[in-house]
Amino acid sequence: MVTRRTVFAAAAGLVLVEGVLAAGRPALAVERRDPRAAWAEAPANRHPDWRVRAFSWAVLAPNPHNRQPWMLELIGSDEALLFADLDRRLPVTDPLDRQITIGLGAAVELFCLAAAAEGRAVVVEPFPAGVPEGRLDQRPVARLSLAAGGAGQADPLFAAAPNRRSAKLPFDLARPPTAAELHSVASAARHGTRVVTILDPAEVTAWRELTWWAWQIEAGDPAAHGETIALMRLGRAEVTSRPDGVSVWGPGLDELVANGVLTRAGFSEPAHPAYRAMVDRYRAMLAATPAYLAVLTPAGSLREALTAGRDWLRLNLAATAAGLAIHPVSQALQEFPAMAEPYLAAHTRLGATAPARVQMLARIGRLPAGAVAQPTPRWPAGSRILGV
Ligand SMILES: Cc1cc2nc3c(=O)[nH]c(=O)nc-3n(C[C@H](O)[C@H](O)[C@H](O)COP(=O)(O)O)c2cc1C
Repeated sequence: MVTRRTVFAAAAGLVLVEGVLAAGRPALAVERRDPRAAWAEAPANRHPDWRVRAFSWAVLAPNPHNRQPWMLELIGSDEALLFADLDRRLPVTDPLDRQITIGLGAAVELFCLAAAAEGRAVVVEPFPAGVPEGRLDQRPVARLSLAAGGAGQADPLFAAAPNRRSAKLPFDLARPPTAAELHSVASAARHGTRVVTILDPAEVTAWRELTWWAWQIEAGDPAAHGETIALMRLGRAEVTSRPDGVSVWGPGLDELVANGVLTRAGFSEPAHPAYRAMVDRYRAMLAATPAYLAVLTPAGSLREALTAGRDWLRLNLAATAAGLAIHPVSQALQEFPAMAEPYLAAHTRLGATAPARVQMLARIGRLPAGAVAQPTPRWPAGSRILGV
């Protein structure tokens, strides 16, 4: 089992790892770190180790509730093992660790694309010590090693990595994506998943209803919603000290947090204005959806989830390159008991009969003129590297 050590390789030279300060720096220095700094650090990273440089991109991968569940252990000079941080799972809404594994798969793909952009080909061995039959465990999720003698070919998709976002915003219904655009996004998958795009108006309406139904079930389930509430980072100070989870911050919001208008208790209580505002925002946002995108795999093991994550990252980059925005709406795919009916409805509608699985479901469209999806916070890449 790998041991945890305090490591920091990011350009800013500051780190806090699980409460331990590197190099005796004052805590204030960490608190001042821009929660979005990782987005600038990846392209600027000049670390001598190519794996550290590639991993500084990998931490920018999409992942559920922004838990950033990855840990990298460097082995020798040209190999690394990717582990799941088992403390960063979502036991209520992701009881099988399927979504967490998708996030890890997305990080694997971004690692490979970053290495390829420098001319290195990476061999990915999924679950080299065996695929867990149940949930994730302490065994590695992937071995990442330099291909013997093989030069990597840069993939044009990588150029979209700095601008990729999960856009939690209403989309422009007057400018839906074209069938050709959706086809081009879907064709970016390379790892054997089946990608389904939905543009037909009657189908889109049915999916709007299904996703809204599922969202309300999750928001109304105390355990499932409680998991989200516990992961909320309210206001800049909380986001800065813990740059993961569901961050509620920015101009306007920071003031509402400081004034006690936005609180965890308020987001938990259906009669509270904060809860009602959340419901209204989601209802309008989910209704403003011109098209959907789904990723399916022929089976449902964690191996397939990892593969789905790799393709999910590629679809995200292809959409970004095409000027389209993506927003996952995962509620109907979740395996907790209260979600059984929407789960069945979603799988049936997509023709996914067990053991086939719908791994991702997302809204896709264009942002209205002037709307911008901001980059989300990240822990520094160096704080997630083990064994140095
Ligand atoms: C498996 C998976 C499931 C996700 N499900 C949702 C979801 O249901 N709702 C949502 O708003 N975002 C969802 N997301 C997006 C994450 O919240 C997002 O990736 C994370 O906050 C980091 O933000 P970024 O993708 O903009 O970098 C999901 C992402 C992944 C990989």
